[in-house]
This record gives sequence, C-alpha cells and structure tokens, in this order.
Amino acid sequence: MTVLGPGTQADLLSPEAVADPYPLLAELREHDPVHWSERYRSWFVTRYADVDAALRDPRFSSDRISPYRRARLDGPDADPGVRAAFGVLEDWMVFKDPPDHTRLRKLLSRAFTPRAVERMRPRIAEIADGLLADLGPEADLIGEYAYPLTSSVVAELLGVPRADRSRFKDWSDRITGLVFGGMGDPDRHADGADGMAELTAYLGALVQQHERDPADDLLTALIRARDAGDALSHDEVVATGVLLLFAGHETTTNLIGNGILALLRHPAEAPDAPGTVEELLRWDGPAKTIARLMATDVELGGRTLGRGERVFLCPAAANRDPAVFPDPDRLDVSRRPGRQLGFGIGLHYCLGAPLARLEASIAIPAALHRFPQLRLTEDPLSWHPVLLSRGLLRLPVVTT
Ligand code: HEM
Repeated sequence: MTVLGPGTQADLLSPEAVADPYPLLAELREHDPVHWSERYRSWFVTRYADVDAALRDPRFSSDRISPYRRARLDGPDADPGVRAAFGVLEDWMVFKDPPDHTRLRKLLSRAFTPRAVERMRPRIAEIADGLLADLGPEADLIGEYAYPLTSSVVAELLGVPRADRSRFKDWSDRITGLVFGGMGDPDRHADGADGMAELTAYLGALVQQHERDPADDLLTALIRARDAGDALSHDEVVATGVLLLFAGHETTTNLIGNGILALLRHPAEAPDAPGTVEELLRWDGPAKTIARLMATDVELGGRTLGRGERVFLCPAAANRDPAVFPDPDRLDVSRRPGRQLGFGIGLHYCLGAPLARLEASIAIPAALHRFPQLRLTEDPLSWHPVLLSRGLLRLPVVTT
C-alpha cells in the first residue's frame, strides 16, 4: 500500500474507497492525520483525539450554508428556487453556530423528548414485523425494509398522515442532492430545489392544519414549544420538520443496512447483545465524515487550517483509531461501549440518537431472527458514492 504523505492524493470517492473506506482512512490516520486534499480543496482529519477536539471547538464552524449563499446566491443571476431551498437549509440547527443554534436546539429539545421517542417502541416493532411479513423469497432490505421502516417512524412521530407518506421518498431523494451533493452542480441544485419547494409547501399546509387542530404529535409539540417566551416561527417549524424527516431516516436506514450486513458477515456476533448497536455504529456507522468551515486559522497536527477552508472530520476513521479502541478493525459486540463518535459530539451531538438506537435495536434483530437463513445475493455490494455518509444502495438477500 502506498504511504500517503502531505500532497499525495487520497480519494475517498474512488470506487475502492467507496466500497471500503477503512484501509485508506487507516493510512491517512497513521501517516497524514491532518491531510490537505487538493481534489476536494478540503482538509481531512482522521485521529480520534483530533476529531473529538475539533467537534467541541467553536473555531470549527457549522455555519456552512450562509457563506455559500452570500457568495453564490445573492446575486441577480441566481435561481430564486435554489435560493429559497438554501434558505430552508439555513434554518436547520445543524448548520448554525451559537447563539442561533442554542435557541433552536433548546426549542426542539422541549418537543423531541426521550419520552416521545420511547412511546414509539411498540409501533416500531409493529412496523418492522409488518414489513418483514411482506418480504418475498428475494428481497432488497434497504428498499423494502430499512427505508420504509425509518421513514414511516419519523413521519408517524411528526404526524404526517399515512396516505401522504409515499411522496416523501421522492422529495427526500431530491433534497439529498442539495445537502450531500457538491456545492457546485447546478442541475442537482435545481432538482433539489423543486423537491424542497414541494416538501415545504406540503409541510407548511400541515403545520397550519396542526395550528388549527392540535394533535398528540411532534409537529404540534414544535408549534407549542416555548423557551423564556420564545417560540419557533412558522418557517422555523417547517424547516425543522424537513430536517427531522431528512435526518431521521437517511442515516438510520444506513445504520440498519450496514448493521445487518455486518452481522451477516460475522454470524458469531449476537444481533441483540446490549452493546451490539453501539459496536455497529463504531465499526461501520453511517457518519463517514462531518463537515465544518474554519472560522479562523487553527494549528492542528503541525498544519495550519486557514480561515474559510473546509474540513471533513472523519468519525469513520476516529472510531477505528487503535489509540482508543484495541484491535479496532475487529467487530466485537461485547466490547466495552461508549466513546464512539458516530453521532458526533459537543453542541451538535445528534438529537435523534435515542430514536436511532431504538429503531436499530428493534429492526436489526427482528430481521435476523425472523429469517435465520438470510443470505446475501450480491457481492460486491453497491454503496452511496458520497463523502458524508456510508450506506448501501441495495441489500439484496434471499430470505429462505
Ligand atoms: C443512525 C442514525 C443517525 C446518525 C448516524 C446520525 C448522525 C448525526 C451526526 C453525526 C450529527 C452531528 C452533525 C454535526 O455535528 O454537524 C447529527 C445531528 C443531528 N441529528 Fe442525527 N443521526 C442519526 C439519526 C437521527 C434521527 C433519527 C434524528 C431525528 C429524527 C436525527 C436528528 C438530528 C438532528 C436534529 C441533528 C442536529 C443537532 C444539532 O445541530 O444540534 N438524527 N446526527
């Protein structure tokens, strides 16, 4: 294997690295832990100690939408639809720094409580069982199980009527281009912007309906959430609804897909041990990288990360750092849990972590227990060719 030095080109989107990023991430972590990529005009940070510290450091800013909007979308030539779509993203707490982030997070935390999540437990099991019962002898566990499960759960939690849920997949797929896509592809932006416009119009009407006719769901709780007299505006409730629908199922689908795959390949590991979900998040979790923008110059690992430069902090590399996890490439569900960075850490630590853990702890063993003969039918498998997340396009299996 080539030893990477400063200036050598590492490409996390090469076909080999998309299929299995861990050898390249290990090489970076060992030989060039704060790596400048000319190809992506970005830094890649791979050691646990550095990723952990950077995620807690306000100089690594989460506000990466408004600088782009100011530079590219405020001019007279900019597409108004794309500008409006980025306006919704700008209202997402995940793209904000304090004090705006603090305010939005407090209000969402009032509504999205551990109690609201725990109440979903029986429904998650019921939805999982229903989907598994419908599978034929050959099935795709992403398209026919993980995706419909996680999108139904978050839609139901929010209070989206069942009849409308099928439309969310299309909207969400199109928005993915805006959120995960490179910042520079105008066609993907235009299509993503149309999807965002349709989804926000739909949710805007649903919020109005909930304002008139409150229900026992998260959308109503968001409308009612108060902190010291402060509340979310109508647009903020809509944007937060979009964020939850989006954040709530793409990533969890990937955790369920990656998790079932890992356990199919390691049949000796128990699907329902207390530490299984945590170890699956560590070993092959959905968060490959987390992006930040440098608010100021920072020295890290002997390199200077310049103000305005983009940084990819890599939980996928940190979670296999031998300085923290002994024998890190081994999947071991009996490992002492804790410390994995798959939900981030610090101010932006994933607000949906309890829901994601609950869904995965039900869905993964449910599939493996119901179909003890479950086998893969495709190898090599196809993975999403993106920097930020790690997930399968399909998980084709035979069930009998
Ligand atoms: C396995 C599934 C999941 C993974 C791996 C995951 C991962 C993450 C990560 C890494 C962050 C931090 C981003 C950053 O620091 O910039 C985050 C934030 C967030 N996640 Fe999750 N997530 C998952 C599921 C969910 C679910 C189910 C929901 C809600 C329904 C959710 C809602 C959020 C929200 C609202 C934030 C923003 C928090 C903030 O900015 O303060 N996530 N997630």
